[in-house]
Amino acid sequence: MKDLVSLTTHFVRERLSGDATGHDFWHIRRVSNLAERIARREGADLTVVRLAALLHDIADWKFHKGDASVGPKVARGWLEKQGADQELVSKVCAIIADVSFKGAGVKRPVLSLEGRVVQDADRLDALGAIGIARAFAYGGAKGRAMHDPAIKPRFHKSARAYLKAGGTTLNHFYEKLLLLKARMNTPTGRKMAQHRHAFMEGYVRRFLAEWDGKS
Ligand code: ADP
Ligand code: NI
Repeated sequence: MKDLVSLTTHFVRERLSGDATGHDFWHIRRVSNLAERIARREGADLTVVRLAALLHDIADWKFHKGDASVGPKVARGWLEKQGADQELVSKVCAIIADVSFKGAGVKRPVLSLEGRVVQDADRLDALGAIGIARAFAYGGAKGRAMHDPAIKPRFHKSARAYLKAGGTTLNHFYEKLLLLKARMNTPTGRKMAQHRHAFMEGYVRRFLAEWDGKS
């Protein structure tokens, strides 16, 4: 199955080149590496994890008017064209459908062990120094303000509300990033999130102190 993984790597690299919203191929690379590390410790199926990590952002729901079915469809089309086993295709596509964060108050789907591993890896890449950089890159690409003390963070009850919300990049830390530590799925992922979370907390504290000229 190594061939399918290499072919998929190539396919994803081509499709995601030039993205400036935090979903470039380097995000995929980092998530794949993290997912593989977690998968080995948690005893998850490496082929499923590798393929799902590679394909997890192939057509993000946020960029298709909230339609979460595009990603799994593109992934299925690709994997079937390569003659991949049906069971493998189903496992991978189920993960792609459910892995993305859709708002703090939105009900969470039940994931397979492999899905929990890929989701942890994806979340780790939204944390820490890289996570901070991605948040500001995303905010810049969307023309959002870094911060506005008059705009308060919101707890989104539906994926639609989360998608439509304007908001600032600093609020994204309260609306998503600082909530992720408590939502990690695997013991390995949870442990890896600690340090990244603490770094981000310190960063936000410092950002606000500098904002007020206190530091
Ligand atoms: P993932 O790849 O983890 O599914 P998303 O697709 O939700 O992540 O977002 C891509 C990156 O952009 C992440 O690092 C995320 O934190 C960041 N991001 C998403 N929504 C916002 C937002 N409203 N403001 C700032 N950053 C955001
Ligand atoms: Ni991702």
